[in-house]
Formats: sequence, structure tokens, C-alpha cells
Amino acid sequence: EPVNCAEAKCVALTFDDGPGADTPQLLDILKAEKVPATFLLVGKSVATYPDTVAREVAEGHSIGAHTWSHPELTKLSDAGIVNEVNSTVEAISKAAPDAKVTFTRPPYGAFNPRVISVLESLQHAAVLWDVDTLDWKNRDPNAVLQKVKEQVKPGSIILMHDIHPTTIQAVPEVIKYLHSEGFTLVTVPEMFGGSLTPGKAYFDQNLIQ
Ligand code: NI
Repeated sequence: EPVNCAEAKCVALTFDDGPGADTPQLLDILKAEKVPATFLLVGKSVATYPDTVAREVAEGHSIGAHTWSHPELTKLSDAGIVNEVNSTVEAISKAAPDAKVTFTRPPYGAFNPRVISVLESLQHAAVLWDVDTLDWKNRDPNAVLQKVKEQVKPGSIILMHDIHPTTIQAVPEVIKYLHSEGFTLVTVPEMFGGSLTPGKAYFDQNLIQ
């Protein structure tokens, strides 16, 4: 039965920049906790760890593109943006033929109306975030948990990176905290009733541009 996030207190865990060498360990944690997550994948890492991508899809997680080489999309031509997204989607399709990729997270959150319109032409939404754990910077599981506690609200999209072992170490405590606060953990599409609209930018459940 799908979660109705208009009624439940939902929150989405999102992991950028993977897959990485330690992502299977994160998948073990999510599986044990029965928590679905959203992975924003870098194309060149998809090509390195295709089996991990296949596992993410098989275990019910949601997959989005985070470009092939992680550039600021605002600095690329339209054709450059298309290439960054399409090459990533192709790599994902090769690793996990069942995956349907319908959204992109622009690296660094760098976007403008032109980037959004190119994404729309690819039938992609943009997925941003409202809770920034700064995990890439603090490299400290307790600091990650603290950032979540300070910022999370119903409908939050939480930004983390599964390429850092300290982030993966934080995840069990983050899940425990969110459950203790009555949150239901969902994928980003689930938060919005199952699908995202191409050409829209999603920051949290209420802020959609
Ligand atoms: Ni990134």
C-alpha cells in the first residue's frame, strides 16, 4: 500500500555522488531497517559499480541522475547538459534495465530556468533538498545526525553522500531518530504521490517551483 504523504509525516533520505565502494554496506542497513531511499547517481561511477546500481533498483530504491562528470550545469551549453544527463541515464539503463530515470539532481544545486527547461525537454524533473547535512564537509556521524535534528520537518528531502564512510555510519542513528519522531521514510517520487512532473524543481514537499 503506498504511503499518503498528505497525511503521514514523510521524509526522504537522498544519497548523491555514488555508487561508491561502501554503498553495499548502506544497502544492507536500509534493507534491515526496511527503509527506501533515493540515489542520485554519477554516470561514471555507475559504469564502475553496475552491480550496486542493479541492487539499488532491485531493493526498491528510487534512482535519479546526478550527471556523468558532476559539472555545474549552469556553465554548460544546452547540448552539454543533454549529454551529461543522457549518458548517465544510458549507463543506469545498462546496469539496471528496469530502472526508469525521471529526475536529475543538478550538482551543487546549480540550476537556472535554462537548465530546468533542458531537463524538461528530457522529461526530467529537478530534485533539490531542504536539509543539508554537510556530511561531505564534517565527516562526522554525530554532526550528520545533529544537522538532521536541527533542520528536519515533515516533507523534508535530506541531502547526504554515500561515498563517505562516516555518512553510512550515521544512517542507522538518523533512521532511529526519524522513526522516534514519527516520520515515515519514503522515496522522493513517493513523497509526491508516485511521480514527479518534468520541468519542476522539488525542494521539499511544499516547495515546488
Ligand atoms: Ni554531488
